Amino acid sequence: METFFSFFKSHLKSLCSSLELHDFIFLVGQKLTGLSKVALMTKECVLNESQKLLFSRYCKELSENRPIQYVLGETDFCELKIKVDERALIPRVETSELVDFVLDSAVKGAKILDIGTGSGCIAIALAKKILNSSVTAYDISEEALLLAAENAHLNNVEVFFRQVDILNGADSNEDFDVIVSNPPYIKLSEREEMCSNVLDYEPHLALFVPNNDPLIFYRAIIDFAKKHLLPTGSLFFEINRAFSQEIKEMLNEKGFSKVEIRKDMFGNDRMIRACF
Ligand SMILES: C[S@@+](CC[C@H](N)C(=O)[O-])C[C@H]1O[C@@H](n2cnc3c(N)ncnc32)[C@H](O)[C@@H]1O
Repeated sequence: METFFSFFKSHLKSLCSSLELHDFIFLVGQKLTGLSKVALMTKECVLNESQKLLFSRYCKELSENRPIQYVLGETDFCELKIKVDERALIPRVETSELVDFVLDSAVKGAKILDIGTGSGCIAIALAKKILNSSVTAYDISEEALLLAAENAHLNNVEVFFRQVDILNGADSNEDFDVIVSNPPYIKLSEREEMCSNVLDYEPHLALFVPNNDPLIFYRAIIDFAKKHLLPTGSLFFEINRAFSQEIKEMLNEKGFSKVEIRKDMFGNDRMIRACF
């Protein structure tokens, strides 16, 4: 008897690395059949015609190096399902750690702003987890905002989405308890070290900053926060591990006296919390 597990393994092993194979089998298997991991490992593989068709589409797209999250159209983030496609960055596990960092101190009823919301993952997770919070989210990309709005709807939360260019004199008539951002922070010169499936499929608008001004978003967001963060509020950033000290200095120079850097699960400086 051929189990679902062995069927998916034999077809997927040439389409991903050996490190990814286990995850791919269960991600594809669960999406396609709705079965539990145990059932995939023990039940005989029987696929109907539409499942076979879908599976051959998945295999074709994986062979073209399309990220599995885009192929399946969704990813898990902070225990939520987030719809993903080429309109926005795939949420990363480090970013779920940023959400946890915010949750460590955020209080009931907080007014929250997420800058550069992409798929909406941070804003939606915070809206879901902080009771009575009011969450606003900015992005420059209209298509990312449409995806984010779909995700808010799918996850049954209210988020106020606004198309805002944070680099061009963004202003607000509101003040916030929490301003959080995972802005673009990869220098163009780092492209060579990146995987082709990221470069070929994920929006470059979400990834890159100029080599000669890699902190451009941090400067703009800190200036915005100086005007729109409440005196007892906190500013949270995800950061490029190479720039933790520079961003800390920039925050200190711009009047944030308490700055805490936190490492991600891989041991890299990845998050900052700053207060006045
Ligand atoms: C690194 S992605 C983060 C997406 C999402 N928050 C996440 O953590 O997965 C950065 C986001 O900033 C947005 N962005 C780029 N330039 C911007 C600008 N000038 N103003 C506002 N948002 C911008 C991009 O469209 C992208 O969605």
